Amino acid sequence: MRLSDSDRAILDGEAGRSASKAMEILVALGEIYGAESMLEVGSAQVSGVSYHNLDEAGLEWLEQMAEDGRARVIATLNPAGMDLERWQELSVDPGFASRQKRIVDAYGRMGIARACTCTPYLVGNLPAPAEHVAWSESSAVAFANTVLGARTNKEGGPSALAAALTGRTPAYGLHLDAGRAPQVEVRVEATVGPSTAAWGALGAALGKLSAGKVPLVQGLPRPRLEELKAFGAAAVTFGASPLVHIAGVTPEAASHPRPRESVVLGANDLEEAWASLVDPGDEVDLVCLGCPHASLGELARIAALLQGRSVARTTWICTARATAETARSIGIVQRIERSGAIVVADTCFVVAPLAGRGTLATDSAKGCYYSRGHNRLAVKLGTVERCLDAAVEGRWR
Ligand code: F3S
Repeated sequence: MRLSDSDRAILDGEAGRSASKAMEILVALGEIYGAESMLEVGSAQVSGVSYHNLDEAGLEWLEQMAEDGRARVIATLNPAGMDLERWQELSVDPGFASRQKRIVDAYGRMGIARACTCTPYLVGNLPAPAEHVAWSESSAVAFANTVLGARTNKEGGPSALAAALTGRTPAYGLHLDAGRAPQVEVRVEATVGPSTAAWGALGAALGKLSAGKVPLVQGLPRPRLEELKAFGAAAVTFGASPLVHIAGVTPEAASHPRPRESVVLGANDLEEAWASLVDPGDEVDLVCLGCPHASLGELARIAALLQGRSVARTTWICTARATAETARSIGIVQRIERSGAIVVADTCFVVAPLAGRGTLATDSAKGCYYSRGHNRLAVKLGTVERCLDAAVEGRWR
């Protein structure tokens, strides 16, 4: 692999021990994937924040990296394992909380913003089309490639941190024109309803159908931003590439040669994908919205749907702290919380300790997948309206 003089100097320790370690990680990654050189990145989005996933060894490694590691580009964090301000109110174990805070503090010392969110593009980490970035959370990676037209592989936590500390990433995969060319055309012949749940189910169906190839999707209605983030999150979770060309949406979709292989995604595929995310029974114990983290528009809509109602089940609305603060400044958070629902920031219902609490209702296909596998919950995928009805009535109708 060809290294520039400045890459070589970082590797040789001229920018400190942590930057050298970071460059070692990037060189190893580049060699595995056959990269010929490094690229400059405009920003990083770093996963590996929840103490649940990192454990003691991960915490110690981060504290060592924080001794002299300093970010060279804008970098933001993925959700942590708890709301960093309201953790006591949410009954988080104090031992877990103190370790979680040490992790976020270590990142903070490295100059990585504590905007713990999977929607960095809604809170100021917004790349330009064709800009190279190093992001790690799968839904954010899908949004960056598919909607913004930025270029990023799906980084692991250590490689995204390494990119933050050096401003570099190896040139392979979705950074290169060749890696971004669509490999299969998917013609959607199903009617996709205007809801995040329907677009999530569509993403799940696409993931199964395209099996890791870069798809070019034709025949979709014009989506809203919230539907795009639900779609990308589900598509990657269920096996799609973290770049999905959507005709009429993805900036470069029309600039590649049309793929030779073509498949149809029909009404049955969509129905099956949705039905596979609705477990039997009508009891609901927990309702969670905001996966990926809710936008300001979603929070406003939830506030309107909860107006004058009280929830009978634990109801979490997950969002970025900056989005929550903006919503609070215009009374939206207060209106949601008057119903008994809670606006939770910095974390989400998958990475927070919510395991084993019965049946979860959510509008997120990705949230269903991980809640089932990771948190041992039964799940129900439904529209935001249907989930909020379940929150109020305690039943799935
Ligand atoms: Fe974000 Fe958590 Fe969902 S990280 S995409 S809210 S699983």
